[in-house]
Amino acid sequence: MSNLVVVGAQWGDEGKGKVVDFLANTAQVVVRFQGGPNAGHTVYWRSKKYTFHQIPSGLLHRQTRGVIGCGCVIDPYRLNEELAVLSAGRESFFRRVMIDRRAHIILPFHKELDRLHEEQLGEKKIGTTGQGIGPAYQDKFARVGIRAGDLLNEDVFNDKLRRNVAAANFRLMECYKVEPISFKELSTALWKTTRPLVAMIGDGTLFIEKALRGGKRVLFEGAQGTHLDIDLGSYPFVTTSSTVVAGAASGSGISPLWLEEAVGVAKAYTTRVGAGPFPSELPEEEAGRLRELGGEYGATTGRPRRCGWFDAGLVRASVRYNHLSSLILTKLDVLDSFAEIKICVGYRYQGQRLKEFDPFFAQELEPEFITLPGWRESTKTSRSYKDLPLRARRYIAKIADLISCPVALVSVGSSREEIVPVEKEKLKWLK
Ligand code: IMP
Repeated sequence: MSNLVVVGAQWGDEGKGKVVDFLANTAQVVVRFQGGPNAGHTVYWRSKKYTFHQIPSGLLHRQTRGVIGCGCVIDPYRLNEELAVLSAGRESFFRRVMIDRRAHIILPFHKELDRLHEEQLGEKKIGTTGQGIGPAYQDKFARVGIRAGDLLNEDVFNDKLRRNVAAANFRLMECYKVEPISFKELSTALWKTTRPLVAMIGDGTLFIEKALRGGKRVLFEGAQGTHLDIDLGSYPFVTTSSTVVAGAASGSGISPLWLEEAVGVAKAYTTRVGAGPFPSELPEEEAGRLRELGGEYGATTGRPRRCGWFDAGLVRASVRYNHLSSLILTKLDVLDSFAEIKICVGYRYQGQRLKEFDPFFAQELEPEFITLPGWRESTKTSRSYKDLPLRARRYIAKIADLISCPVALVSVGSSREEIVPVEKEKLKWLK
């Protein structure tokens, strides 16, 4: 296989950063196709922690080139910071990343509007990351957004920005009763901030297509997770982009007919940040143990994540939406000390049994659990399937059975080496 799409199969934070870093070992191109700095993909390499927000996380491998695809939204201030941190002491990341000129720009007032809207929603808030993602996509779909390509011409840029600022000021003053922003100040600051990025702007769609035609290995890196997808997720508690495999094509600007394989990433349990349904969520006393053992705090916001047992109905739906041919299960080691481990195997809804999570009825779903005995020994040093404790193997087999999808790999720690092949042959990318 010469291309692979990696998507989150839960509500984000599944450990896609580590997985993409592992799989990018043989990739030549890594593409981010949606979202923006709401993502925080963590990679540990040579005892150092790297957090990727907008840059594809496979780029620690020097042979890779990265594309921030047309489906993304970019915060230029944060991108500059990220590039500076990543480039420190290493060869420049600026030369290895292309920004598709169609990608939209997050403006500072998008962040403010994000915050004010959440405040206005009060108890009903989504719990966004506050990065201005929703308002930036709103402008994109309202057909007034500023795109990366607009940063190449000062007149075009200023013309669009002037109209955007006028519209934003109307909202800021009329809806939220706050101070307007100054076009002049913003225009000067933004123009200056975006200069280092100009050389990176190009036609990502052509670059990716050329790589695919040339038989290069291309990895498409999803952000957030399937159940945060704008169409298929637990709406309205979702992000504003297409986080599923379908989004990999539109967000990269290539035909979906190019895509060959899709793998999902899921944690061995479930977490969620922000509001919204979560059938297998644990009460706080019990969630706290998983949170501490798993270090479940947001990579972007530092917020504590809500925690619960593995929800097979949730991941089963992801297998279907994304046509996953295999799953990578992460953070199995976090469960090492548990005497008993539960799995949500389905739900009761109005007297009926549902095998698959359905966001429409999410608030009324009563989770049904099975309990498996824990293995109570460390899996951290396991490097082959038979190294894993028998009960851990049974846990993995049960999950594969419940979601009707093979588990190709299991991750038992944060470093690249801490990976155990299960049904590795099911992930053709690795052949
Ligand atoms: P937004 O993407 O910042 O608008 O946030 C919308 C919802 O998606 C909120 O519930 C966020 O917590 C969630 N979300 C956004 N990005 C991530 C992520 O990278 N991991 C987990 N949840 C996320």
